[in-house]
Order: sequence, then structure tokens, then C-alpha cells
Amino acid sequence: MNIHYASPGLPEFYSNHRSAWEDFYVSERTAFEASGLGPETSILDVGCACGGLGTALNERFGCTNYVGLEIHEGAAAIGALAVASFGGRVLSGDILEGSQILKFAGLPQEYDLVVSLSALDWNADVRDNILQAWRHVAIGGALLMSLRLHPNSCHLDLEESRQSTTPHNGGGDEFAPYVIMSVPAAVEFATRMGAASVRVFGHWGAPSATAQTPVDRCIFALAILTKTTVVDPEIQFLIDGPGELVEQVKSLNARRS
Ligand SMILES: C[S@@+](CC[C@H](N)C(=O)[O-])C[C@H]1O[C@@H](n2cnc3c(N)ncnc32)[C@H](O)[C@@H]1O
Repeated sequence: MNIHYASPGLPEFYSNHRSAWEDFYVSERTAFEASGLGPETSILDVGCACGGLGTALNERFGCTNYVGLEIHEGAAAIGALAVASFGGRVLSGDILEGSQILKFAGLPQEYDLVVSLSALDWNADVRDNILQAWRHVAIGGALLMSLRLHPNSCHLDLEESRQSTTPHNGGGDEFAPYVIMSVPAAVEFATRMGAASVRVFGHWGAPSATAQTPVDRCIFALAILTKTTVVDPEIQFLIDGPGELVEQVKSLNARRS
């Protein structure tokens, strides 16, 4: 069961931030540049807040086939208005109910790119949420998602690791899990999902100063998982990140094969 976020501070923030291409982190822009986007690419943005990414991708790549899905009703309503200018849509609801929501709106179930920035990992049952997003990736398409990794620590629970949903204005009483996945768990999960290849852009960093979490550093990663019809047990990992991560993934992969 996912948390239905409702704090007023969330749309207040996202209606004014992260809506122009240059507002996005360099790592995020690098991952999008590597994803081969063009005006025809169909995009499903899971946890889109006020749809700012849709506007940014329209600005940078001319994308118009954009659908956002957002659990916060107020943010979704603002997002729907924002992306309508170029023909995009934002729907209100939980990714766990994504199939019904898209069906009800008369929209396709599968997209060339399913993207989720800092959103799937706002849910304690992060694996189930990732799997739901993965179901909406078309064959030949990809899932681009951000996640926090740690060589061996896994913290999925709100009680263990959390952050206010509105840290920019001092934080209220609404919290989201600050999910950190261990590298072995992430490699195992990507393999079981049946991704054909996994490309990762990652760097070490300190957790947000406003997060309450047991780790003092983690790898901030953008992962692009591709989907094909062939489920090959020899999944390809291409890691552009810290040497330790490259070595750890290599050795986990060698042990599996
Ligand atoms: C940290 S914000 C990121 C917003 C946007 N993706 C960005 O990067 O600017 C996370 C957003 O994901 C939404 N979200 C979290 N869990 C969700 C779920 N299960 N289904 C749909 N939206 C969700 C939250 O309400 C919030 O607006």
C-alpha cells in the first residue's frame, strides 16, 4: 500500500522548480541524452509532480507524447494544465493502479520510455513499484529511473530511513521513505526483472541534509534498463560511475554466471 501524498508544500515547490531543461541535474540530463529521445518518443513519467519534466523534454527534444502519473491530486491538477500547452497529459493516481488509470483515460499501456525521477523510491515497497513501471515499457523501450545505492546497506522502510516531502520549507509532518538499495539487491532485482541491459550513471554523495538515514554516503544513480523480447541470462551491465561500483557489479555478475 503506497502513501497518498497530500502536503500542500509539494505542489507549491514543483510548480516553480524542475520544469526547464537546465533545472535538471547534469546526471539526469546525461541519462536523457543517452536515451535517444526524439519528437516521436512516447513517455510515461511516474511520480511527475507538476509535470515539469514533460515541459523540459518538450523544450530539449521536442517530445509531445508525454503522459505523467502523479499520486498527489493537487500536483497532478497543476501538471495537467502545464503540459496541455504541448498536448501532454497528467493523470492523478498511484503507479500500482497505473494500468486501470491509463485504460480509463483511453491512453496506451506501453511507452518507449518510462521515466521516474526520485519517485519510485518514495515507496517502501520499491520493488513492486518498479515492476509496475516496468510493465508499461514497450518492447524495444526502456525504463529510466533514479535510485540510491550502497555497497551493502539496504534501507527500504520509513522507520529506518526517511525525509520530509517538503524539505524546502522546513518540512511538515508528511514523510517519504528515503530508500537506499544495496548493490547486490539491485543487481539481483534487475536480473530477475528480465532487463536486456542496464546502463548506470552514478556518483558518490552525502544523503540530503534533511534526510534521516543510517548511511553517511550513497551512490546517486540513474539507471536505464532496456526491454527486448529475448530474456538473456547474461544481462549486460554498463557502469559509468565509481570504480568500487564497477568492480562490485563485475564480481556479482561473474558469481552468477
Ligand atoms: C521527489 S518528487 C519528484 C518529482 C519529479 N519526478 C521530479 O523529479 O521533479 C516525487 C513525486 O512522486 C510522487 N509519487 C510518489 N509515489 C508515487 C506513486 N506510487 N505513484 C505516483 N506518484 C508517486 C510524489 O507524490 C511526488 O510528487
